[in-house]
Amino acid sequence: MEIRPLNPHTGAEVLGLDLNRAVCDSDRAAMNRAFVERSVLVIRDQALKPQQMLDAVGLFGSVFAQQNTKFAIADCPQIHYVSNQDRFPGGRRYIPGEGWHTDHSNAVRPPKATVLHAVSLPDKGGDTQYANMAAAYAALPSATKQRIASLMGIHVYQSSHSARKLMTLSEGDKERVPNAVLHPLVRTHPESGAKAIYLNPIRIEGILGLDHKVALPLLDELLEHATAERFQYRHVWRPGDLVMWDNRCLLHKANGDYDMGQVRYLYRVMLQGDVPR
Ligand SMILES: [Fe+2]
Repeated sequence: MEIRPLNPHTGAEVLGLDLNRAVCDSDRAAMNRAFVERSVLVIRDQALKPQQMLDAVGLFGSVFAQQNTKFAIADCPQIHYVSNQDRFPGGRRYIPGEGWHTDHSNAVRPPKATVLHAVSLPDKGGDTQYANMAAAYAALPSATKQRIASLMGIHVYQSSHSARKLMTLSEGDKERVPNAVLHPLVRTHPESGAKAIYLNPIRIEGILGLDHKVALPLLDELLEHATAERFQYRHVWRPGDLVMWDNRCLLHKANGDYDMGQVRYLYRVMLQGDVPR
């Protein structure tokens, strides 16, 4: 097994590993280390069926129950699918993951990681972009760091300020999914100790104790700073990729920039995280 960095600050690829076979303790430890240091781990050349993917992600943590069970795979409901073939009730195509966000931040303990495995990809396009929120935090002016140090974001299932609309939850899912929770706007990574900006334009409704007139421009300003190209890693998918990223210190976004006549279909698993602090 070999692990190589993908750009100067974010991403590492793992070569020469077959997750359908047993993984030794030292390889497992090396991948967990690379995950914490590089935030995006790309394990190349895998061919995993749903149950095999579940077994493989057990190397990195325990499975988190995803929120909208509409997307659960019938024979393996802990795995959801990501597809460009679904439509909103009105007929408009639903492209999951468009717009910068971090997954399921309205949970009390949001998932530490999301794992996608490419089953079917378009010939080109459909990249996933990542923004490194720890690097973005480190580059903030100290006055901004002080200003946001103790602010709490209010996270809901669907922010009323978000341009991107999510699929509505079933009544059963609504009872299960928290709405709303408070998380710090600056969180400390429980494994690396690095501070990162923690916001989510799709789910953040406001900042506790601040008027929207103040909170929304502040969130916009932080988002614009953090998603500058110098903090990004852009993943160009290859068949067989299994990509795991760290929701605690990244934003990500999908791109619906490809031929929608082609099927883009991936399996998605999330791993349990801690209460953000
Ligand atoms: Fe996402």
